[in-house]
Amino acid sequence: MSSSITAKASPLDVVIMAAGKGTRMKSDLPKVLHRLGGRALLAHVLDCAAQLSARQAVVITGHGASQVEAVLSSRGGALPLHCVRQEPQLGTGHAVQQALPQLLDDGVTLILSGDVPLTQADTLQALLALCGGRQLALLTLSLPDPTGYGRIVRSDNSQGDVLAIVEHKDASDAQRHITEIYSGIMAVPTRLLRPWLARLDNHNAQQEYYLTDIVKFAIADGLSVAAHQITDAAQVAGVNSPVQLAELERVYQLRQARALMEQGVRLADPARLDVRGSLRCGRDVEIDIGCIFEGDVQLGDGVRIGAHCVVANARLAAGAVIHPFTHIDGEKLGVEVGEGALVGPFARLRPGAQLGAEVHIGNFVEVKNSTLAKGAKANHLAYLGDATVGEAVNYGAGSITANYDGANKHRTVIEAHVHVGSNCVLVAPITLGAGGTIGGGSTITKDTPPGALSVARGKQLSIANWQRPAKKPKG
Ligand code: UD1
Ligand code: CA
Repeated sequence: MSSSITAKASPLDVVIMAAGKGTRMKSDLPKVLHRLGGRALLAHVLDCAAQLSARQAVVITGHGASQVEAVLSSRGGALPLHCVRQEPQLGTGHAVQQALPQLLDDGVTLILSGDVPLTQADTLQALLALCGGRQLALLTLSLPDPTGYGRIVRSDNSQGDVLAIVEHKDASDAQRHITEIYSGIMAVPTRLLRPWLARLDNHNAQQEYYLTDIVKFAIADGLSVAAHQITDAAQVAGVNSPVQLAELERVYQLRQARALMEQGVRLADPARLDVRGSLRCGRDVEIDIGCIFEGDVQLGDGVRIGAHCVVANARLAAGAVIHPFTHIDGEKLGVEVGEGALVGPFARLRPGAQLGAEVHIGNFVEVKNSTLAKGAKANHLAYLGDATVGEAVNYGAGSITANYDGANKHRTVIEAHVHVGSNCVLVAPITLGAGGTIGGGSTITKDTPPGALSVARGKQLSIANWQRPAKKPKG
């Protein structure tokens, strides 16, 4: 039996370092919980690990450990997670030592950092292939300014074999001229890692246990060390400050914008789009500038989104048009916008708004937990809350459902083809019968019969030749 052909890839255990303080964030939130594209930095790293079909991820926590662990324990998904605490933090090698009891010698350990969010799974796959369950493999990169990073020291033989990583603070002047740096990411067979970690000491400039010292142990043991060199610095860039967080956010958003355009989505400007969640689009979707998409958003064929809209947790059917400055947030209940519906400008759709086909919702109209059937219209300055609105209803400017009595919410039912005039108050619970008309300015407190005109307001009165009070002349 040829083992080289039949051997399966070694099982993968991912170790994620997340114990560091993140002093430069100047924040009470642990660094790895800061958000990029709407998700914690650490969540990006875990999602990437999940794409590699790791058998587990071990997260090393320290600063803000209980906050980080609380977030991790509420995380779903198939990847088994373990947390180990590192207290105090004595360096990256010491951090990985804490994870060792969780690791099995039949596997490969992939070391990642919780504050490096943009590494791509295919890059790590290439690193793991180089490791091959046999040798230490480092992810490296050449930087024009390598200051602060660990340098890759290579032999001057023709192969340029990797000999060591020297930390910036320990490096000689000559070594500081090396531009190839260690990214902080490595893959190593666990059976080799374990004894190497046992040999670490802290006799160096920072008096820390350097994980990077295992390179020289590998060489001393007569083993080779492989390097996978990449050119895309964003993939290994860490977040240490709000400036770096914002820089990586732009990189991430541009990546998403590119992917959408490759699927055919027409973006007015890829630099002015923010997707903080998942955005799925049909054919011929157009998105103007300054839009933000959050949570889970689906846009059907031919949907157009005007400038400066915020759309969260919503499904928009084919041909729906959202005019500028509209805010749609479905939160947990979701929002549905039907085929060919027109919404905005300046409209607000809240959780549970379900608009049928060809519904029109105009400026300064708020809709919450309400169903509008085909062709219903509320074009100006109105509120529909906890309402069931029938087909082709016309809901006048300034009208509101009074759905809340101070303790409980009640439903308003507006049957098909009702015409509600301007400035009406519909005091729920109430039903307006089909085809009825409600006179403008009415406060409706009782059900109205189908087909009738219902008016509930003071009768108009005119007093002829009315003399307005006049000011008395002075003097
Ligand atoms: C490390 C590498 C360096 C590399 C650089 C890339 C070492 C000794 N050096 O340096 O070669 O070029 O990353 O960014 O590994 N952490 C812990 N516990 C600790 C110390 C650190 O969990 O005791 C975590 C940090 O939170 C961070 C990661 O490990 O996520 C890296 O630590 P950091 O202090 O940034 O390492 P560098 O000194 O930058
Ligand atoms: Ca660092």
